[in-house]
Amino acid sequence: MQPLRHFAIAIDGPAASGKSTIAKCLARELGLVMVNSGAMYRAVTWKILELGIDPHDSDSIINALQSMDLHCGVEGNFSTVAIDGKVLDEELRGKEVNQAVSIVAAIPYVREKLVQMQRDYLQHTCVVMEGRDIGSIVFPDTPFKIYVDASEEVRAARRSAEGVTDSVAARDKADSNRTTAPLLVAEGAIVLDNSDHTVASAVAAALDILRSQGLVCDV
Ligand code: DC
Repeated sequence: MQPLRHFAIAIDGPAASGKSTIAKCLARELGLVMVNSGAMYRAVTWKILELGIDPHDSDSIINALQSMDLHCGVEGNFSTVAIDGKVLDEELRGKEVNQAVSIVAAIPYVREKLVQMQRDYLQHTCVVMEGRDIGSIVFPDTPFKIYVDASEEVRAARRSAEGVTDSVAARDKADSNRTTAPLLVAEGAIVLDNSDHTVASAVAAALDILRSQGLVCDV
């Protein structure tokens, strides 16, 4: 097998820590594709709910996933996720999906399947991928790993400013305590505390971390 020519920057962290914003800006500055791995877990959850399947019913979820037409792609600098040919966006951020996604994401078969799709991006492109297990499980060998954190108050305030009903504390607890691929600071990751940063200063701090990890870039 040919070694992959592409590399990944892993950005992990809890809900509403600002990791998506940082990942998007990094992708734009560095000319990479930003992959939102949470959108994949959300898409599967959305479809499960559409099918009327109980999010706790792992067997039915596994069956449904085996026959699901799930496609992960790229448009411009961003990843896309489609089911049955429909690109999903707004529907992934609804209250019902927020409430069920951590339950569905804890199912090992779901993770196995989505992790493979996440790794497949490197067949085609270099990525900034954000999620919960990118530095620990998806790309454990990448030298470029950042864990974005922020205080619980700041994260809850961010979500409510977005007008979204999302119990970030409950989701973080579930994501951190699950057996398979829990949220943690991956080996080699550097923590960026995003509680008091502006977007610009957070991105500058992220670039400093990446340079310290060996990224050569002229931005
Ligand atoms: O990043 P997000 O908040 O949109 O992610 C939604 C959920 O998906 C999150 O609560 C846990 C799950 N997730 C995961 O388990 N692993 C990832 N790499 C990304 C997200």
